[in-house]
Amino acid sequence: MRGSFKKIKSLILVSITGLLSLGGCMPLSITDTSLASAKNQMRVGVVLYNAADPFVMNIADSITRYAEEEQELSQGKIIIDVLDSKNDQQLQNTQIDELIKQKYDAIAINIVDRAESANVIDKVKEAKIPVVFFNREPVPQDMNKWDQVYYIGAHAAEAGEMQGQILLDAITGGMKIDRNGDGIIQYVMLEGEPGHQDSILRSYHSIKVLEDAAIKTENLAMDTAMWQRGEAKDKILEWIEQFENHIEVILSNNDEMALGAIEALEARGYFKDNKSIPVIGVDGLTQALQAIKDDKMLGTVLNNADAQGKAIFGKLYNLSTGAQSQIVLDYENDGKYLWIPHKIITKEAIN
Ligand code: BGC
Repeated sequence: MRGSFKKIKSLILVSITGLLSLGGCMPLSITDTSLASAKNQMRVGVVLYNAADPFVMNIADSITRYAEEEQELSQGKIIIDVLDSKNDQQLQNTQIDELIKQKYDAIAINIVDRAESANVIDKVKEAKIPVVFFNREPVPQDMNKWDQVYYIGAHAAEAGEMQGQILLDAITGGMKIDRNGDGIIQYVMLEGEPGHQDSILRSYHSIKVLEDAAIKTENLAMDTAMWQRGEAKDKILEWIEQFENHIEVILSNNDEMALGAIEALEARGYFKDNKSIPVIGVDGLTQALQAIKDDKMLGTVLNNADAQGKAIFGKLYNLSTGAQSQIVLDYENDGKYLWIPHKIITKEAIN
């Protein structure tokens, strides 16, 4: 086994009977990718841009959890190999090459660099292996290169709109956000990776909601912290120093960075003696929910990793076996794109 093909998780589920009964009466082996069903098994690869990313790992865990559930129901043999690309597109390319060489039935790809999507699609198309991109969305031009290319994710703009809504609701609900009373909300923005659809659109739409509601805003600072807690903490420490008490809101493109912001605020004596700055994130990570309960975070937006993993597994199953998974999928779906809705989470929603 080559180093680049190191599996981080391999789920090999062997049924007691060894027979793949897909829903009892579903026909097997309809598509040209049905190698798996002919062998009474499905074998798929899930390639992660970076297994150190907690949100992405939540999706991977969900995929394997639903595979186990399907396994119980259909008694087939399901093999899922999850690979970590360690934020390295070159490594990811070799991993995908290896999956192609070993004739996996289908591949789910969380691409490191969205600009590489076209090359990856050319390769899988040539090998006739269907792919499901997730979390990092290729541009439509690339998605349209082949009819066996799919995307499962959440509308990036919607998450930003809900962040804006959380803030707007707090303002209209009487929370004193405009601390200096100048009629303008001074905010800082922690951004995800540049070029990621979720960074660009969440930042833009969160502020647009306020502007559309005639709330004046002023951006004090805005920078990438690459989705990461540690980088976000450093940024906020720097900005607290730079702007002293002028920051009235911290908007963050995800929860990991929001949690970094909270660590920075704690380190500077916030959350005591009524000293606090509202922080808003996206994802709905367990630690973020705790921070909301503890009044250290105003709210977050659920980016439903469980549902995304479920939909990804369902699609991989369908592409590998030609049959429908028994796990019910009830999401907006036009055959090529499948969208999982976001949801606002504030303290009221948790309690
Ligand atoms: C999530 C982030 C994550 C990123 C990775 C986003 O949708 O909100 O937490 O780091 O995807 O691509």
